[in-house]
Amino acid sequence: MDFKQTLSFDDVLLTPLYSSIESRGQVDISSALDEKTTLSMPVISSPMDTVTEQHMAASIGKAGGMGIIHRYNTPKEQATLVAASIALDRSVPVGVAVGMTGDYIERARKCVMAGADVVCIDVAHGHHAVMERCLKSLKDTIPGIHLMAGNVATLEAFDALASWGADSIRVGIGGGSICSTRMVTGHGLPTFQSVLECSRTTYETKIIADGGIKTTGDMVKALAAGADFVMVGSMLAGTKETPGEIFVGKESKKYKVYRGMASSAAQKSWRGKSSTPEGVSTTVPYRGSVEGVFKDIAGGIRSGLSYSGARSLEELRGRASFVRQSSASQLESNTHILWRNK
Ligand code: IMP
Repeated sequence: MDFKQTLSFDDVLLTPLYSSIESRGQVDISSALDEKTTLSMPVISSPMDTVTEQHMAASIGKAGGMGIIHRYNTPKEQATLVAASIALDRSVPVGVAVGMTGDYIERARKCVMAGADVVCIDVAHGHHAVMERCLKSLKDTIPGIHLMAGNVATLEAFDALASWGADSIRVGIGGGSICSTRMVTGHGLPTFQSVLECSRTTYETKIIADGGIKTTGDMVKALAAGADFVMVGSMLAGTKETPGEIFVGKESKKYKVYRGMASSAAQKSWRGKSSTPEGVSTTVPYRGSVEGVFKDIAGGIRSGLSYSGARSLEELRGRASFVRQSSASQLESNTHILWRNK
């Protein structure tokens, strides 16, 4: 049996390259989703019930990215969330998640009528016979709508979904911060490795790196490895614009819940029961408005491009030079004063 070597975000670093960029303002981090929509910041928020409803969709849209409103509600409620976000800011693009069975066509139709620009077929294992039927029926029912699909982990799966009509594909299985898929099923691939592999596709379909992105450094690595966009949950969790109550915990500190959509807690909320969870629910410190988070994200990505001497994401992909880092280097790459003095 052959064992393939794989790489995670923390296994690699980008080599700093000659740069003539004089300020981060000279760096363009925009990325085209399709002929109609270009995001000025290549970041998409996850369709999770503790990440994206109308307030997150409006805020990330204003910052240049896009939100995907989760599907853990009725089609009518979801369409109302779309309309409410559009009411908050008419100029921002917005996506909606649907499942692969049941009410997905009605859901997609209602949300597109309410103004959604993207329909995201949101399933854990997208390389599936039902996905083919689902993509084809949505293409027939709502011609011209952007179809995002996933999740996949391999080039073979990416190419299959692309050939079935997906316009963009979420790449990453088992890497999410709240995910227990690899522990429960033994399956998955490091998200960075999946992005590297899927970047060899000959399809024009856009690549969205999804799951396990912890820092803007990881975002830059994903974009350099071939992703057109990154999708994040935990990096936005705990902010004011996420759905959910703020509660006061230990030492009077404020917290919010962040949970996997396959966690027992999320399943119980939406289905009234839970079967074999593949995610966990946790609390994260409350962080106030997400606006500053987006400023730091955009600033970090711009800075990342300038270290590679790249003025655009396309230039970054062309110039990027990765090295593998040792475990000693991984320690050095962190802010080691913080643990050295403990
Ligand atoms: P994070 O940015 O590392 O927190 O990962 C967010 C991503 O995890 C989402 O965009 C989904 O792809 C994935 N995800 C969400 N809920 C679950 C779950 O319950 N189990 C496994 N993966 C999940």
